[in-house]
Amino acid sequence: MVNFLLLMLGASRVVSKTGNSSAPDSLPILSYSSEKSNSEGLPTPRSEGEILSSPNLKAFSFNELKNATRNFRPDSLLGEGGFGYVFKGWIDEQTLSAAKPGSGMVIAVKKLKPEGFQGHKEWLTEVNYLGQLYHPNLVKLIGYCLEGENRLLVYEFMPKGSLENHLFRRGPQPLSWAIRIKVATGAARGLSFLHESESQVIYRDFKASNILLDVEFNAKLSDFGLAKDGPTGDRTHVSTQVMGTHGYAAPEYVATGRLTAKSDVYSFGVALLELLTGRRAVDKSKVGMEQNLVDWAKPYLGDKRKVFRIMDSRLEGQYPHKGAYMAATLALQCLSVEAKARPRMSEVLATLEQIQSPKEATKNSLHEPQRVPNTVHRSSLRRHRSPLHMTPSASPLPSRRQPQLVH
Ligand SMILES: Nc1ncnc2c1ncn2[C@@H]1O[C@H](COP(=O)(O)OP(=O)(O)OP(=O)(O)O)[C@@H](O)[C@H]1O
Ligand SMILES: [Mg+2]
Repeated sequence: MVNFLLLMLGASRVVSKTGNSSAPDSLPILSYSSEKSNSEGLPTPRSEGEILSSPNLKAFSFNELKNATRNFRPDSLLGEGGFGYVFKGWIDEQTLSAAKPGSGMVIAVKKLKPEGFQGHKEWLTEVNYLGQLYHPNLVKLIGYCLEGENRLLVYEFMPKGSLENHLFRRGPQPLSWAIRIKVATGAARGLSFLHESESQVIYRDFKASNILLDVEFNAKLSDFGLAKDGPTGDRTHVSTQVMGTHGYAAPEYVATGRLTAKSDVYSFGVALLELLTGRRAVDKSKVGMEQNLVDWAKPYLGDKRKVFRIMDSRLEGQYPHKGAYMAATLALQCLSVEAKARPRMSEVLATLEQIQSPKEATKNSLHEPQRVPNTVHRSSLRRHRSPLHMTPSASPLPSRRQPQLVH
């Protein structure tokens, strides 16, 4: 997809890049505020060498990935994002070396556009986090390639692509209510894992295009290039450059640069609203209030008699009214202007589980008070890792996001 940038310097200057008219309306946003330095109490950063030597990741040579993707052939192309192109490839399951197309294990190879330093930072942040985080609702990073100017990432292949494709592109069968709730539940489980971990991780770029789907519509979060460690000690937030995607970012985060896990909860609320309505977070083809999904939908969310008016017409009324109202109320809570009033992701998950299978969830809650899954593990390295610090002077823009003036 074509990428956008909204760069905000303070609140005054706004620049952005728009591509062609078919491009989506979500805008990665960025503004400057003071970037927290390590002396302010963040964990010790891991060096690039430490990150890249993760025992869980394979270091691929460029040639291996060239072979695995049939020389990055256009007909192997799975999609395009701001980072670059994503190709389908095949590797041997045991040796992880390139395999014949159609044999062995299918992979997705993301190839960074070779345009500079910032792209390398996001690339390394992704290797850092996904080299250490394991959960059924996070996409699995198999390895990477760092060779000369080349930066690539090798993931497990997600056969159903992104949620964005299913919700907003013409063509695929509309997602049923049950699948929408399943996807929301899986994504909530992934975010909840990040937030509830011993060293909290704030995802910072929760949106429909970053939710990938396996063959059974299990959701997995991808794109950890913007992820950040949560606050430590008695700190309440992390001060950082405002990055994320327009329409999804929490208002207080955009205004102050203060990042908390509740910023992710807001973004989740926006994505949940997209699932309910089938509308994009920002849609410039609409007029006035309707351009912004949250502004448009909010007045309907808390009203049992009105909520059906905003439900996706592609559902053709095939959804339980009680479940839809519960989901709409949940979205409304996630979208609270006051960050503290938003639920935690573990609470969001519990509500979604109840919507998904009301009887099962009640039964479980009687026996199992801890609802955050514990079938996961993180590498012990996790404790020592820290985010990559961006200096305030360095452009926090990945090279992929070239700004232009907005009129
Ligand atoms: N692991 C994967 N398996 C299958 N398809 C994938 C995988 N990763 C990415 N894709 C496909 O490639 C497309 C581009 O992904 P990418 O993450 O580069 O960009 P994006 O999320 O669409 O945009 P952005 O750059 O704003 O995050 C996705 O929409 C998806 O269809
Ligand atoms: Mg993505």
